[in-house]
Amino acid sequence: MKNIITIKKLNKFYHGDVHALNNIDLEVKEGEFVILLGLSGSGKSTLLRCLNRLIEPTSGEMYFYDKNIIAAKGRELREIRRHNSI
Ligand SMILES: Nc1ncnc2c1ncn2[C@@H]1O[C@H](COP(=O)(O)OP(=O)(O)OP(=O)(O)O)[C@@H](O)[C@H]1O
Ligand SMILES: [Mg+2]
Repeated sequence: MKNIITIKKLNKFYHGDVHALNNIDLEVKEGEFVILLGLSGSGKSTLLRCLNRLIEPTSGEMYFYDKNIIAAKGRELREIRRHNSI
């Protein structure tokens, strides 16, 4: 099965000191049902906000199929957001 979402070594620092995401790797494949589970403050919302580009990750890579989410702008980004249902 193809990867729908691929995340490689994603990091997010807030204000340069809160390390909210620490080298996150994640693959979501076609047909999978995924639950994001974790303690309060573990970074669930931060991860989802990075995925839909509401906030910018500090470093790392994210792909929707083969499209680079971090590099996407304008129409391509709107297209990814429309189809990105996680
Ligand atoms: N805008 C922000 N500015 C600074 N720190 C933040 C900000 N948003 C989140 N954080 C910090 O980043 C970390 C991850 O928070 P996040 O909100 O992603 O966790 P969560 O898993 O969604 O928590 P919850 O289950 O309570 O919704 C926490 O330490 C939080 O305090
Ligand atoms: Mg949250």
